[in-house]
Amino acid sequence: MAGVCSMSKCVCSVFVICFLLHGGCELSTNVYKEGKGIYVQWCSSCHGIDQQGLGSLYPPLTDLSAFSTSIGEIPCLIRLGSGAINGGDSLMQMPALTHLTDVEISNVLNYLNSLHWKLPEVQLNQIRHWLTQCEGTQK
Ligand code: HEC
Repeated sequence: MAGVCSMSKCVCSVFVICFLLHGGCELSTNVYKEGKGIYVQWCSSCHGIDQQGLGSLYPPLTDLSAFSTSIGEIPCLIRLGSGAINGGDSLMQMPALTHLTDVEISNVLNYLNSLHWKLPEVQLNQIRHWLTQCEGTQK
């Protein structure tokens, strides 16, 4: 009988692991889907639907290494606008998108990351840490 019990425990943990892995995959896919929706709604009018930007007015978002902003500054850039990050001496400013929550910022950043930058997924607590460097509050 003991043998049967440990066998079912084993089967059960395999099931739990499969469930967790599967759930994890689904979660990231949904995150990127939400990130895409946010991008289309709140970013694409300036940076373009394909992230190629618009001439010298709006920078492309495809090549992280060409940015004047480091990845850790992007959450604050989105929340507070470009003036708060670089002093606002550029010809064109990026407006503050204050209504986007920490989670939405994380989703749109990871959407761009998955498309172009190919870094490991940036975790929400990392995004929140970066945000506390320009503001104390969390949404
Ligand atoms: C109204 C137009 C506008 C919208 C909307 C907008 N941006 Fe921007 N964005 C800009 C401009 C202009 C700059 C360049 C600012 C500067 O150089 O000072 C910029 C810069 C950036 C940069 C830094 C690029 C670099 O080369 O350093 C990133 C990243 C970025 N935007 C991401 C986003 C994301 C993500 C969204 C949507 C959540 C968004 N932007 C929405 C206009 C916009």
